[in-house]
Order: sequence, then structure tokens, then C-alpha cells
Amino acid sequence: MFETPTLSTTDKPTLYRELRAQARSIMVGERDRIANAANFAALVYHAVPQLNWCGFYFFDGAELVVGPFQGKPACVRIALGRGVCGTAAQRRAALIVPDVAAFPGHIACDAASRSELVVPLLRAPGGELLGVFDLDSPVPGRFDADDRDGIGGLARLWIHGSDLPAGL
Ligand code: SME
Repeated sequence: MFETPTLSTTDKPTLYRELRAQARSIMVGERDRIANAANFAALVYHAVPQLNWCGFYFFDGAELVVGPFQGKPACVRIALGRGVCGTAAQRRAALIVPDVAAFPGHIACDAASRSELVVPLLRAPGGELLGVFDLDSPVPGRFDADDRDGIGGLARLWIHGSDLPAGL
């Protein structure tokens, strides 16, 4: 039904522009946040090269709880300030970790992961923390500022395309 863009280029801004169009088309007319998150994770996983895991952790008011994702089963709950996800959530800032082995407190869900990118999900800039979107790669140093900005822009489409009740 949906054409997943194939990356024939190393031009990341072009890839992410195409992905934003795809993300809009899979979420248009649908406000269910879980349905949108599930399709969003699948879209990113299959279109962004060299990933072994990507998905959502939702903030439940106390800690992060795993949401829709693609990849191997992951740890369910992460405290704020713990691991890469909990650190990005606490700082409310994107985090690029080129070498997860060198990140103190990294939580190894899949032993294949070598580098990681986590973007915060904020209801509005500087606003309520909804959770994080996490990407893992088996390739060291896989993520750069283009990925951070591209994934951040995609994540905003999920935030604005979904009904997010108070507390999420
Ligand atoms: N590595 C993450 C945990 C989540 S998994 O990678 C899916 C972290 O350190 O927060």
C-alpha cells in the first residue's frame, strides 16, 4: 500500500524529506497515537539504513515505558537519567552516541548495537515531555546532525498527527 523510499543516495536531507512525505501519508486522517507510532516505527526502520532497532519510549509521568518499535524485544522501563534514553529524556535534548560502549550507563538491549540516536518527544518546544524516539545501529558512529534533525522533524509529525491525552 505504501512505497517505502529506497535510499539510493547518501544525501540524508533528501531521504528525510521523502520520509516526511511518507509519514504524512500513513498518518493522515488517523489520530490514534499507538497506530501512528507503530506505523511510524516501521516506516523509519525499513527506510533508514543500518538500523537494528528503532521505536518509542513513552513517559508515564515517572519513567519511560517502551512503546511501538521494530527490532528485538527491548527493556520495558527506563528511569529518567538512566541510559541514553533516560539521559536524553531528562535533558529534553537529542543525544547522539557514536560508541555506546563508551557511554556510562548505556543499557544494552541488543548486543549488536554500536551507536545510538535518541530524540526527545515534546508536546511543544520546551513543553511537556511525551517520551523519546530511539534508534540503534550496529555501525559505530552511524548518526550525525542530519539524522538528528531528520528524525526530530519526523517525530514532530507524529506528535502533531496524533491525539495525545493529558499525561501523554
Ligand atoms: N540503549 C538504550 C536502551 C533502549 S534499547 O537500545 C532499545 C539506552 O541506553 O537507553
